[in-house]
Amino acid sequence: MGWGIHMGISEQSLRDMYLDLMRDILINEIYKDPPMKPVRGKLKKILGGGKYEADQSFDVDRRTLGQDWPSVAHSMIGRKRMDNLRLAVSSVVENGVPGDMVETGVWRGGACIYMRAILKSYGATDRTVWVCDSFEGLPKPDAAYVADKDDMLYKAADVLAISKEQVANNFRIYGLLDDQVRFLKGWFKDTLPTAPIDQIAVLRLDGDMYQSTMDALQALYPKVSPGGYVIIDDYHALDSCSQAVHDYLKNEQPDEVADIKEIDGTGVYWVRQSA
Ligand SMILES: C[S@@+](CC[C@H](N)C(=O)[O-])C[C@H]1O[C@@H](n2cnc3c(N)ncnc32)[C@H](O)[C@@H]1O
Repeated sequence: MGWGIHMGISEQSLRDMYLDLMRDILINEIYKDPPMKPVRGKLKKILGGGKYEADQSFDVDRRTLGQDWPSVAHSMIGRKRMDNLRLAVSSVVENGVPGDMVETGVWRGGACIYMRAILKSYGATDRTVWVCDSFEGLPKPDAAYVADKDDMLYKAADVLAISKEQVANNFRIYGLLDDQVRFLKGWFKDTLPTAPIDQIAVLRLDGDMYQSTMDALQALYPKVSPGGYVIIDDYHALDSCSQAVHDYLKNEQPDEVADIKEIDGTGVYWVRQSA
């Protein structure tokens, strides 16, 4: 008889309430943690200052745009890129685009946790969230990749290396660690070419460097379903990242028309047209 299902609140409204709250917790708009302190010293040198020069208090505009490295929050991608991820995962579930969710470069796991939460909110039991990272921070630049030659992010391992156990625990505290979450630990060049992933509906690349982006595209892009989403977190933040995207599309997907759309001035995405 329905019981006026959920006292008159629709399933969609309940889903929105849960997913709004999950987003705000994952980026910590709730307790408003400051950016990490080291950005004033060592990290500031590594990253060249710029956007990290302001004081250390919580700045809602930066958090919205994912422009700080939070001291506590489980994701650094900010509100707009979280909303983009929700659009992507919701869209593939609602439209029946086949495949799993993959993030390459997860840090504390927040974006992957959000993907698992979105799947759960739809009752989608037939898709896996793949959590791919070294869990040791970024690699040293490989001399074969000129675009990475000045990259120093590997020196920030003290803040970027989050162990697999810690990331798993982060899933657990939201009640979202289960057999629909799988971890691929290691350098992308070693793990992704043989990853046991058949088909991908959402591919989110957040490995910053040219090689990290290229390794992920070469191994995983051919598995993205038509209608699936490809999200590049660092497209405008790092020239080496956007260069890898364009080199890959030009050289390895010459027939692909990638209609690249802006998210927040840093990240971009497109929907795959062909396969
Ligand atoms: C900017 S963080 C990811 C942020 C995360 N998506 C979030 O929601 O906050 C970059 C991550 O990429 C990983 N990474 C970068 N290049 C890698 C590579 N070649 N192999 C494995 N992990 C890599 C680092 O360990 C780090 O965790």
